[in-house]
Amino acid sequence: MPGVYQMSVDVATQYLYERSQQGFKSYLVFGVIDREKKDSLGSPALDPDNVVCRLLRSVIEAKIPMVGITDLCFCEYTSHGHCGPLTADGSTVKNDETVERLVKQAINHAQAGAGVIAPSGMMDGTIGALRKGLDAAGFIDTAILAYSVKYASAFYGPFRDAADSAPSHGDRKSYQMDPARGLSEALLEAELDVQQGADMVMLKPAGPYLDVISAVRSRVNVPVVAYQVSGEYSMIEAAARNGWIDRDRAVLESLTAIKRAGADLIISYYAELLSKLLPN
Ligand code: PBG
Ligand code: ZN
Repeated sequence: MPGVYQMSVDVATQYLYERSQQGFKSYLVFGVIDREKKDSLGSPALDPDNVVCRLLRSVIEAKIPMVGITDLCFCEYTSHGHCGPLTADGSTVKNDETVERLVKQAINHAQAGAGVIAPSGMMDGTIGALRKGLDAAGFIDTAILAYSVKYASAFYGPFRDAADSAPSHGDRKSYQMDPARGLSEALLEAELDVQQGADMVMLKPAGPYLDVISAVRSRVNVPVVAYQVSGEYSMIEAAARNGWIDRDRAVLESLTAIKRAGADLIISYYAELLSKLLPN
């Protein structure tokens, strides 16, 4: 993924310190681990000393004034690259077992200091179980950013390469959404998550789904977050690096469109560039 690098905990802490000096107030963290440490259950995800928990603690110890948002999933930790333990025939993920394990992972993140938990695996019943589990463990103020409307998209390709999380067989169509389906499915997913306790609902990808952003915005009463994903970013980067497109203008235009569609918050690999392009 062009211009995006894996970082160790010390490098990431320094990086975040510099961003906080520029005024950034939050960060989204993904864990990447050695392939030899992965197993079929994604066990390293539940290690309270894994790289995500260590970064959360390190940022707090360094007194960096930023909120940590953690991606909550198993695909970066499983040997097969799917978002949870597989059924016996390997055809799909065991939904309820994955949800149980997600709750444990979320409590670890909260314990290490995460302010917001962002479950990205699209398992049914995740949000309700997380809210219950976090509250019971005393983390009543830890917020949930639900990846409510997540399409099975080709635009995640560069991320999977960067995070070493591509599925070794099959695809994610049994848990992520079909891009061809109508708006009603997206609205239902978002409403269910709000009913179960989501503090914010997220949609991804963003650019190709502006109609969905707009529809969800007019339906729910929590902040709507749109994620301009790795493929959207990489396409602009590739064209810009080839001299085919004006990067700054394309970045501003793509993010303006997402905002215009109704996003209250945008997650983008261009956050840093955007902060330089916008007047203060
Ligand atoms: C993990 C996860 C993915 C992304 C965010 N969280 C990959 C996937 O679902 O395959 C994609 C982010 C991006 O493409 O920028 N489930
Ligand atoms: Zn996943």
